[in-house]
Amino acid sequence: MEPEARTILERAGPVQTSPTEDALPESELARRVADVEAIVPIGAHRVSDATLAAAPRLRVVAVAAVGYNLVDVAAATHRGILVTNTPGVLTETTADLAWALMLAVARRVPEGDRFVRAGRWRDVTWSLMLGRDVHGVTLGILGLGRIGKAIARRAQGFAMRVLYHNPQPDPGAETLGAIYRSKADLLREADFVVLAVPLGAETRGLIGESELASMKPTAFLINVSRGPVVDEGALVRALEAGRIAGAGLDVFEEEPRVHPGLVALDQVVLTPHIGSASRATRLAMAARAAENCVAALGGERPPNLVNPEAWRA
Ligand code: GLV
Repeated sequence: MEPEARTILERAGPVQTSPTEDALPESELARRVADVEAIVPIGAHRVSDATLAAAPRLRVVAVAAVGYNLVDVAAATHRGILVTNTPGVLTETTADLAWALMLAVARRVPEGDRFVRAGRWRDVTWSLMLGRDVHGVTLGILGLGRIGKAIARRAQGFAMRVLYHNPQPDPGAETLGAIYRSKADLLREADFVVLAVPLGAETRGLIGESELASMKPTAFLINVSRGPVVDEGALVRALEAGRIAGAGLDVFEEEPRVHPGLVALDQVVLTPHIGSASRATRLAMAARAAENCVAALGGERPPNLVNPEAWRA
């Protein structure tokens, strides 16, 4: 973390940092958490039941992200340990990145960038790098939560028809001009399918072989949620076979590993899980994590508690 974010976290107490954002081996993580009262997991670090067990003084796991799928929340609750996240502060920034990926992949921005850098401008022809329009087409959002709604709001400026699917229709969707569809209908109709669901048992593998097959061959898949929402092998096969037009991906099934089949394809835009990575938003996330730690360590209910059962207990 940059010094400013670290200073923010130090409001909660002295901070020790791990040397990497890659997941550490359980044994090393266990050694590092033996004495801590709060863990702020970022990057690929998992907080398993074994890690919780190795931290007898632990009071709170303050995830510096909105998604807390790498924390065993049930185990934390069972042990009376609070888990918090940082919703709200990263909504708009993550929606911006979803749009960056849509525009980049449809208008072939990274390909154009590679082309110019390679000194190939002289090869430009009238019909080079023809992309697809973003304005005026149909956007399908799977997961109309905070981030999904922020993505939908931006679509109004692009005169798009917006469809969404949630387990239940959202009464707030109407003011955004977003129309409810079954998942199957959304996949069939959308020119851009954007994934903004949290990762859980119901959303793991949400997009697989048959979902990709039902999309238009001219459609793009955009993922700013979590990698395991998509079956990456099936996605690579669909892209290679031209069953969909392209993909914009910020998240991957086994981060930091990226499927080599994706790297090989020009019609895929890849970013390294930077949905919330604007300077202002990362500082706001650090501040939220610090506030959650300060509250929990001070015996108060943290503002962004995700397991209220642990608080009651
Ligand atoms: C980032 O991926 C987050 O969940 O905030």
